[in-house]
Amino acid sequence: MTQTNQSKVKVGVVGCGVVATAYYLPYLMQMENVELSAVCDLNAARAAACVRLFGAKAAYQDYNAMIEQADIDAVFILTAPGTHVRFALKAIAAGKHFLLQKPMATNMEDARTIADAVRQAGLKAIIEPSSNSPLDPDMAHLRDLVRQGVLGDILWFSLGATGSTSYGPSLGSNPYGQAAFYAKDSGGFLFDLPYAPANIVCVLGPCQSVMAQAQIKVADHHIVPEAEYDRFLHQATDPARANYWDVVVDLPRTQQVRMEAVDNAYSLYEMANGAVGACHVGRTFHPTLPGAGGGSLQIFGTEGNLIFGAGYAASIISTRADLLPSVDADGWYHIHPRGDRSKAKWPQPTPGAFNYYHASTQHLIDCILADREPLVNVDWGLHITEMMVGTLVSSRTGCKYEMTTTLDY
Ligand SMILES: NC(=O)c1ccc[n+]([C@@H]2O[C@H](COP(=O)([O-])OP(=O)(O)OC[C@H]3O[C@@H](n4cnc5c(N)ncnc54)[C@H](O)[C@@H]3O)[C@@H](O)[C@H]2O)c1
Repeated sequence: MTQTNQSKVKVGVVGCGVVATAYYLPYLMQMENVELSAVCDLNAARAAACVRLFGAKAAYQDYNAMIEQADIDAVFILTAPGTHVRFALKAIAAGKHFLLQKPMATNMEDARTIADAVRQAGLKAIIEPSSNSPLDPDMAHLRDLVRQGVLGDILWFSLGATGSTSYGPSLGSNPYGQAAFYAKDSGGFLFDLPYAPANIVCVLGPCQSVMAQAQIKVADHHIVPEAEYDRFLHQATDPARANYWDVVVDLPRTQQVRMEAVDNAYSLYEMANGAVGACHVGRTFHPTLPGAGGGSLQIFGTEGNLIFGAGYAASIISTRADLLPSVDADGWYHIHPRGDRSKAKWPQPTPGAFNYYHASTQHLIDCILADREPLVNVDWGLHITEMMVGTLVSSRTGCKYEMTTTLDY
């Protein structure tokens, strides 16, 4: 295991794609306790662009070479899902801490192999996304309120998660990224959105069982060719504005792709606290209206309701107003106004709101330097992964899937 008795963590990044250049690299480059030692991409021009834009010290085309030769303590794995298990295991074998973008894996054997190896090696690992996790102070706050009984007994809950990456009738499909979002080993839209099960767990605690139906609903899509991203990156000069999302949503989608994995799944989750509810991951015509469709978790209890996304990050009404920090004239407690995101081409995070890419990066570095266990660790990733794997298994067998993992949360 790599010892980091130092004030800086040396980081390598594999995958110089959209998520790396839009979110992680601009943040890593300005962190005082990080040295951006290396970047790696199969596409040499992308790695070279990240040296130029973000000041990385070295560029690699081969991940194994970066792991074996670069002077790094930790690696950020930001490649397409088909590489995640292989890259994580290579990092662990070399004693590198890591951040792994979603999904951790698309089956339990792979996810368990990663989790066991991390624990055995005593490394720090963060499994994204941390947006709906105890790392987000709003989520930790909501979990506390629910634990204290702000909703009473949960009657039922419902969550609709969809892609809001396009304006118009393109059914919320990702505008680029065949390998990341459409290929069979990407896990499809189901595994693109661990945000959905994580949102439920974040507020209600661990899951006990899953019953589900899953299918490929919309097989034919058009995306923006990869060359457009290369052109964008080649022309980028400001590291703080290298966000391809700002332009890709308006570019013509001229490349035909097939959705090869589940893009429409309806899961009934039974939570360990007895709550039962539905979670739908699928496409919608875009835009919808505030509070409808994407991201709108609603939880109904004997003492109150908790609604996400109805113009606020979250809103609660309860007979236990004494538990709420404040209420408006109608009795609702609101967290953070969000504005009307329903018409946004690509909703930007509300200024000052939790930015999961930055928070995860900071948290991993802090945990490495202080030798602390991350909050969004392999146990968290394993449980959220199992909720999605459970959806696939239940849909295939027609039987209820009993969860084998749990969380102390
Ligand atoms: N784009 C986003 O906003 C976003 C948000 C959240 C999570 N993610 C996740 O991040 C990951 C990457 O997504 P993306 O949108 O950046 O995809 P992307 O296709 O833009 O980037 C992936 C990059 O990895 C490189 N790559 C692929 N195989 C490689 C290999 N063997 N060795 C080295 N480099 C390799 C590709 O050349 C490409 O540049 C996915 O798992 C996705 O689910 C993306």
